[in-house]
Amino acid sequence: MASAILAAGVLLGWLAPHAMAASDTPTPPLPRAPRDPVAALYAEQCAVCHGDDLRGAAQGPPLVGVALRHGATVERIAAATAAGFPDRGMPAWSKALTGDQIRALAVYVSERRAGTTLADFRYAAPLAIPAGVIRSEQHAFRIETVATGLDPLPYALAVLPDGSFLVTEKMRGLRHVAADGRRSMRVRDTPAAYADALQLGGQAMGVGWILDVALHPDYGRNGWIYLSHGDRCSDCNAESRRTGQPVSMIRLLRGRLRGDAWVDQEVIWQSPRETYTAMFEIAAGGRIAFDGRGHVFLSIGMKGASDIADFQDLGRPSGKVLRLHDDGRVPRDNPFVGRDGALPEIWSYGHRSPQGLEVEPSSGDAWNT
Ligand code: HEC
Repeated sequence: MASAILAAGVLLGWLAPHAMAASDTPTPPLPRAPRDPVAALYAEQCAVCHGDDLRGAAQGPPLVGVALRHGATVERIAAATAAGFPDRGMPAWSKALTGDQIRALAVYVSERRAGTTLADFRYAAPLAIPAGVIRSEQHAFRIETVATGLDPLPYALAVLPDGSFLVTEKMRGLRHVAADGRRSMRVRDTPAAYADALQLGGQAMGVGWILDVALHPDYGRNGWIYLSHGDRCSDCNAESRRTGQPVSMIRLLRGRLRGDAWVDQEVIWQSPRETYTAMFEIAAGGRIAFDGRGHVFLSIGMKGASDIADFQDLGRPSGKVLRLHDDGRVPRDNPFVGRDGALPEIWSYGHRSPQGLEVEPSSGDAWNT
């Protein structure tokens, strides 16, 4: 798992320079396949003996298409790489490469053995909805199509008391779908949703997306709907001026629904413009959760300046879960209140892609995935 996260981190970190290609004007063409930094390391250090395609060469055996003599798990491949077999022509790599590099190479070899590559997201696979009853470990259920024509990857859903539901479509906006799914309309006057994302390996990468939607626990009484999005601007801070690209940061709003319009909007949390970056919002979280005790949590994932170091920096918003009063005030019992250089709204930190966030009602504990 850690290596998958590392590999994905490397991917996004590496793709970040391409964020500079995203703009309000048509985007220039991109290289067809992004180059995998681990593949580059393999090409540099290993290909001379094991072949460019891992199929073996004069000085070394194949690493794909055969059973590995020293074991095929990531751990065994990493161990073989680290220790080598110096008397048989395979150098030990534990001094020349870091532990992370060896592990990344072992994951790479393992992925190549399985026929997958880092940027192969397989989004083109058609959506298959199984017929009949599906049995999981805990439940039996069946899947019915309620509404069609929505973004194939809606980000969030909030069910209103009348059974209709709100759906966020990242690059389109907020949609209100009737309970029977037959009617659906775009909610007017929400912040803009931007559809000019880059398409890489079938995956959209952009900024200025509509993210989560959640009802206030007292929605029946106060009508508040919370919405998070990538608040986007151009030519508005140092990064946007240096790169000529639009930048954004996750922002939390609340508002109400009147007919098909978003009204009474209030900003619950936003960050200074200087923290806005061109980093894609694909792993930026934006999840909203309430603890039923007057607090709202907001997750912010990978939205730093193309660098995961921000996740550990208490002075910057990316890589954090924030905890606020539901009107946006900072609770005085937050853990970093009063600490020099720390944002007092931070509840926890070090989160790369907190794309899921829920509060367990009996304990009030927040869980994020
Ligand atoms: C100078 C040539 C050479 C280089 C460079 C080299 N290897 Fe090897 N490697 C070999 C040879 C020879 C063997 C077979 C050792 C044996 O007889 O068991 C081997 C074996 C292996 C094995 C075990 C294969 C099995 O069947 O279990 C792995 C895994 C491996 N190498 C990974 C790597 C990685 C990763 C790199 C780059 C960091 C690398 N090698 C670089 C020559 C090389």
